[in-house]
Amino acid sequence: MRKTSAAMQVRLTILALLAVTLVEAAEKTTGVPTNCDLLVIAHRGASGYVPEHTLGAYALAVTMGADYLEPDLVMTSDGHLVARHENEISLSTDVAERPEFLARYKTQTIDTVTATGWFTEDFTLAELKTLRAVERIPAARPGNTRMNKTFEIPTMQEIIDLAKGMQEFTKRPIGIYPEIKHSTHFQRLGLAMERPLVDLLHKNGYKHADSPIMIQSFEVTNLKELKNLTDLRLIQLYGSRGSQPFDQFGHSGLTYGDMSTPSGLRDVAEYAYGVGPDKNYIIPRVDGKLGNATEFVRDAHAAGLKVHPYTFRAENVFLPVEYQSGSLVEGIGDLRGEIEAFVAAGIDGLFADQPDVAAVVRGPCLPSASTVLSVNLYVFALVTSFIVLR
Ligand SMILES: *[C@@H]1O[C@H](CO)[C@@H](O)[C@H](O)[C@H]1NC(C)=O
Ligand SMILES: *[C@@H]1O[C@H](CO)[C@@H](O)[C@H](O)[C@H]1NC(C)=O
Ligand SMILES: *[C@@H]1O[C@H](CO)[C@@H](O)[C@H](O)[C@H]1NC(C)=O
Repeated sequence: MRKTSAAMQVRLTILALLAVTLVEAAEKTTGVPTNCDLLVIAHRGASGYVPEHTLGAYALAVTMGADYLEPDLVMTSDGHLVARHENEISLSTDVAERPEFLARYKTQTIDTVTATGWFTEDFTLAELKTLRAVERIPAARPGNTRMNKTFEIPTMQEIIDLAKGMQEFTKRPIGIYPEIKHSTHFQRLGLAMERPLVDLLHKNGYKHADSPIMIQSFEVTNLKELKNLTDLRLIQLYGSRGSQPFDQFGHSGLTYGDMSTPSGLRDVAEYAYGVGPDKNYIIPRVDGKLGNATEFVRDAHAAGLKVHPYTFRAENVFLPVEYQSGSLVEGIGDLRGEIEAFVAAGIDGLFADQPDVAAVVRGPCLPSASTVLSVNLYVFALVTSFIVLR
């Protein structure tokens, strides 16, 4: 009896120490403005620094503090999900230099747009694995071209393994925010991605609404189908106001503009957890500068939707003029200032090519390595006390 209460005292002491440490850690950061709920989504990985959609770009994004890695997914001829911005791979790989694949060069219409080049659906995974990634926008990112041909095309499973592996030492969930690209096109080819993606995620233990996964698409029908297939969270992406989701083209008059009205947003909230609009829905540009914020965020929140706009990029060519620096296309401007304007407009998260800049705006919210270490030590001591003092 006495022994039990002594053991309990040791445990209580350890718990008290743990509480004190955590409070101290929290106090260290008080006084610094934080936006700890701001979700940092690494757009194509840390694609501002390393060629996009490579394990190098995704890994760097984790160390920069990203909450979610954002792979765009396309299909191989043998049914594997791989990460590329588009199924046409001449911009993002060295395929054009490979004589063995010359015969696969072709022209086709994808979602009403004619494209010429090499397409992932004409390659097996083994064939795609012989290619190497190159910088997709070399004019804006000349530095990244030094890493041309350094990395392979990653599969979705490899990205999951990377996220789960890095989670081990970051001691925080590393989420994945996959986009299903060209859903209708791949369905027509008999290579629909929805079911294989859900199966892969479920197989890897991502099954619930609170799993660190959000599945995004510019189309509507596939998101509604996904709602029937999984409890994982879904994000409706928005193209320009006048354009239509590809699955609606020729079937309905529905435009993204219709979907951005209060009643349109309520319809989207029937199946989606959040929306991923072009930035212009939130703060349109007027004469190249940021204008006044619209009511989009307020209306989306009223419908119960999170708002994660795209895409935040530090190079001059992408920035509003008042945040540019110098006159070079590839010059680095004040992305932090642009992000702060959008945070003031009420966004819940953002897609950034430089996730480190977004993480600075979020503030010192992640557990520091020393806090993680001391928490681990105390948890270890507590567990040990239960075993030793049993
Ligand atoms: C890297 O790849 C891009 C895109 O194909 C190309 O424009 C650029 O010249 C390449 N740079 C180097 C250094 O290989
Ligand atoms: C989802 O399931 C419901 C109920 O079974 C069904 O009415 C609806 O048509 C399904 N939607 C899609 C897009 O498959
Ligand atoms: C923004 O709103 C203010 C106050 O309503 C107005 O004076 C200004 O002209 C607006 N700016 C733009 C670019 O619409």
